[in-house]
Amino acid sequence: MTRGEIALDELADLRRTHAAGEVRAELVGSEVVLAGWVQRRRDHGGVIFVDLRDRENLVQVVFRPDVSPAAHERAGELRSEYVILVRGTVQRRSPETVNPKMPTGEVEVAVAELRLLNRATPPPFAIEEETDADEATRLRDRVRDLRRPPLQRALRLRHRLYQSVRRTLSERGFLEIETPMLAKSTPEGARDFLVPSRLQPGSFYALPQSPQIMKQLLMIAGFDRYFQIVRCFRDEDQRADRQPEFTQVDIEMSFVGVDDVLEVLEEVTARGCVEAAGVELPRPFPRLAYAEAMARYGSDRPDTRIRLELVDLTDTFRESGFRAFRAAVEAGGIVKCLPIDDAEELTRGAIDRLESFVKKELGARGLGWIRVGGDGTWQSPIAKFLSEAERAAIAERTGARPGSLLFFQADDPIRVNAVLSRLRCDLGRLLARVDPRPWDVLFVVDFPLFERTDEGGLTYAHQPFVAPLEVDIPLLETAPERARGTHYDVVLNGFELGSGSLRNHRSGVQRRIFEILGYPKEESEQSFGFLLNALDTGAPPHGGFAFGHDRWAMVLAGASSLRDVIAFPKTQRGQDIFMEAPTPVPADQLLELGLKTVGRSGEKPGSSEARKGPAELAAPGREAT
Ligand code: AMO
Repeated sequence: MTRGEIALDELADLRRTHAAGEVRAELVGSEVVLAGWVQRRRDHGGVIFVDLRDRENLVQVVFRPDVSPAAHERAGELRSEYVILVRGTVQRRSPETVNPKMPTGEVEVAVAELRLLNRATPPPFAIEEETDADEATRLRDRVRDLRRPPLQRALRLRHRLYQSVRRTLSERGFLEIETPMLAKSTPEGARDFLVPSRLQPGSFYALPQSPQIMKQLLMIAGFDRYFQIVRCFRDEDQRADRQPEFTQVDIEMSFVGVDDVLEVLEEVTARGCVEAAGVELPRPFPRLAYAEAMARYGSDRPDTRIRLELVDLTDTFRESGFRAFRAAVEAGGIVKCLPIDDAEELTRGAIDRLESFVKKELGARGLGWIRVGGDGTWQSPIAKFLSEAERAAIAERTGARPGSLLFFQADDPIRVNAVLSRLRCDLGRLLARVDPRPWDVLFVVDFPLFERTDEGGLTYAHQPFVAPLEVDIPLLETAPERARGTHYDVVLNGFELGSGSLRNHRSGVQRRIFEILGYPKEESEQSFGFLLNALDTGAPPHGGFAFGHDRWAMVLAGASSLRDVIAFPKTQRGQDIFMEAPTPVPADQLLELGLKTVGRSGEKPGSSEARKGPAELAAPGREAT
């Protein structure tokens, strides 16, 4: 072999004996064989030091000409990310060279033999804990980005989470069953990803948005307890906590009520957090009713560590002389306030910036505010419109005192809550009004069954298969908007980890709900006939849940985006800029599928996002709704 060539049989007679992180003081004097990547090479006049990295750790290996002239000579050739195998003896480092920051910092390996397994092109960013490379660069070079410790740790955490969930559910008698990926398009939920059928030209499969109907069919088929760690696909606008394809831990059980499901969910969640991340959640998980969550926090996934709470003042402004607020209430809206005590540090400039933020980003009409000065006087652009009685009511209901700052929203309930819950989170964190507990878990329960649409009709609050509370079934005929659902969520640190409910196991109730949702009869028979027929074959009462596995891993990893816990994620525009997908396909491939494209074919992957900076790739903050 001439110098520089890499032999195919470099590994033939030598196998790795230890991982880098296992090389500790106990091994001093032993011979080890290590394999990995060159993290860094330093040439100290005659002695070459290399930090060798594998998936868990780093260890220093040393090339000395007196130990092995051949290895030393070859080490001069090493560069970052070269792949090597070394054989050598573990030695204690001299006291002044011990590195207490490295778990292996007491020792080093004196190399007797070096084998170069592969060379590497220079990485565009350092393969280190922190990087200042922007996210587009990192996504384009995903393989090397994945070598960085935070991503290595995140994917190991994900692995432990899968294993924990599988263990807990299997121990409790749940069967892991797969359901089809090529499924049927149905009208509910987000937009489908469609797959054209070659054998049935003009017809399409849909990739599942979740295996919801399939798992119900499995209950009807008598499997009793099912779970699946399953890929789901939704063609919806992306955010930091959404991806077009993502993973659910999907669960369904028969012959259960809400409490039975929540008991299983609490165990799966608590064990998952401990076994994947060593996180002990306080148990039992508290339950918070949806109505209370919305009233106090303006969100159905509140982070209750943030000590600020909203106050409803709708009644105060029903007859008000302050036209802006009264008009909002007359139009069916609400008036709420976010009071913050001791808020002197929020300057007038800061308030103006908050106002332009909520107008621009959250569609607010404005941001009313009142500051109570040290002498108790009110400074405010809106105070002059308020009557004495209104001032007194505000002061009493909000507990305002010198130093307080009150923010107001008067609008439709969705906007009011979205704006104030966002301010609650952002200002709560900014002003350090946060309990020091690191973990905040809760069940949110008693969701309404339906929500009003902008057009005045009703839509489902969660999904169309949710069973109403048994006592509310008569309301489906008289006042469906008042019917409560059996829907529940698990919320961890302000993120919705997952959702579930009991389901309609009687076809009559399910048909009535489709009617209330305004699905034409033929459409529901065509789309859901197979479910309705199956319900009539003897469906047991059943219910379940789905965790967003990626979200759960993201929260446990302390990451701010799902992209940090998914090996090969998509960008906000749904592109994989590493693989370059999606791409146009040749016309004959389309022809075979009976398809013709109209309009613009896909922009070249990466072209627009590659130009974006991290701020645009990054997502809006939590609880942005
Ligand atoms: P739901 O639609 O609420 O319920 O989804 C359950 C959980 O899946 C996660 N999730 C997502 N994660 C990443 N990217 C997305 N685009 C995305 N969409 C949802 C969330 C969410 O809480 N079949 C029902 C569950 C059931 O009723 O059993 C369902 O899919 O964490």
